[in-house]
Formats: sequence, C-alpha cells, structure tokens
Amino acid sequence: MMEKEAIFTYEQNHFGKGEINRKAPMIIAQISDTHICQGLAVSQMRLEGLYQTVKSINALDPQPDVIIHTGDMVHGGELEDYWRVKEILSQLKAPFFPVPGNQDDREHMAHAFDLKLQEGFIQYSVDGFPVRLVGIDTTTPDSKMGKFCNNRLNLLRKALAQEGEKSTALFMHHPPFAVETSKYPHQYDDWGDCDNLAELLIEQDQVAHLFCGHSHRNYVTDVRGIPATTLPSLSVDLRMGDFPEHQLKSPLFQIHKWDGGKFVSETVAVVN
Ligand SMILES: [Fe+2]
Repeated sequence: MMEKEAIFTYEQNHFGKGEINRKAPMIIAQISDTHICQGLAVSQMRLEGLYQTVKSINALDPQPDVIIHTGDMVHGGELEDYWRVKEILSQLKAPFFPVPGNQDDREHMAHAFDLKLQEGFIQYSVDGFPVRLVGIDTTTPDSKMGKFCNNRLNLLRKALAQEGEKSTALFMHHPPFAVETSKYPHQYDDWGDCDNLAELLIEQDQVAHLFCGHSHRNYVTDVRGIPATTLPSLSVDLRMGDFPEHQLKSPLFQIHKWDGGKFVSETVAVVN
C-alpha cells in the first residue's frame, strides 16, 4: 500500500487567490513561454503582454478554475525576473501553477512561487479539482532539450497510482511527441524518455490530456490515443506558425473545458 504522504501534492497551498472548485465542469486556462527578461528591446512588450493576458483571464466569465503555465516563464532564469512575473501573476483571481521550461531555473522558480522540490524536481500533483493535475519537470541544466529520467518517471508512476481512478491531466514544457510542423520535431536528447512516459500512460489509463509548451505554436496530436497539445508562446515576438489577421499582434492563451470525458480547447486572443 502506497504512503499517501510520499507524493507531494498541492491543494490549498497554491499561489493565487481563488478557492479550488470541487465541482464539474472544470476550466483550465493555459499560458506558456512568456520569456520575461530585462535588457532586451522586447522586454517591455513581453511584460505588457503578460499583464494584458492576466487582465483578460480575470475578465472571463465564467472564471477558469485554475491557470497553468507550461514553462519558459523567464528567459535566462534570473531570480529578479521571477519577481517581475510574480508581481503580475499575483493579480490573477484563480489559483496558479507553473512548471519549468529550458529557459527557467528550477530553484529560482521554486523559490519565487513557493514550490517544494521533489527529489530535486518541480513535479507535483494538484488535487481537489474534478480533474487531477500533475505537473512534470522536463528540464535539465545540461541541455535545452527535454529530459524525463527514471527518477521523474517513478515520481509520476507513484503520483498516478495514488488516484488511479481519477481523470488526470499532465502539464509539462517539452512535448513528449513529435511536433511535425516544426523544423525540429523531436525535442528530447533521448527519445527513449518519451517512450517510457508513453508506456506508463498505457499502464495507468486515467490520463485524459497532455498540455505542453515549448513549441511556441498550436499543435494537436495524441500519445497512444491520449490527446496532446501545444499552444503559441504568449509573447508575440516568439510565436511560430500561421495565425489569422486579428490574432497577429495579440498575446494568445488557451482555455480547456472539461466536458466530463475530454477537454474541449480554444485559443483566445487578448484584446487590449
Ligand atoms: Fe520557449
């Protein structure tokens, strides 16, 4: 019998103001790849884009139950940049949970957002919502590519085993699938890491969706039949792919509505 305390979970200890909604339906707002940093010509534009996005999310009716950030929150990992981001995100009405990307520094992110490292990784589950959320750390200081080592695989295995019957969504930075519209579709140094993750998802069949960042573009596919998506970078100057005229200059985020069996997603343009 697994010790429940062995796996770190967030419930009330989230960053953000809202209370966790225990009733269906559930709405997730996803933002990603903000790449906030000082000293670039685009620095102020990126900060402003994040600020306008927070305003736009706060104006949604109904409100999302939770906001997730799928990494590359800052560009270069500087602690001061996390404080800038936190100052803006502290205005969100709903609870907020991040995972790191390759441009993040996991210790600095954990410090700024009061995240507890688990075996050195930002990996945790969020209970209390109709769909359980599990954040996965796919970063390594050695490379910009993704990594999902056996330690993290085992942490995820334990987390999934803890609530084997409950629908669960994973969120992570590097997509563990080929983004075929990219010039560089495979973003893990060892693709075996992705195979191991896929095998686990077959063993534990409660995972309903994989929400990813990193590719800076919209992409929809599946991992062994499980829906898997990426979204555009919030920062407009880094966005990849084609977008309609009215979205070209707007920060974009996504809304994912749980209908009881799957997530229905839409990309939302921020209107200033
Ligand atoms: Fe990025």
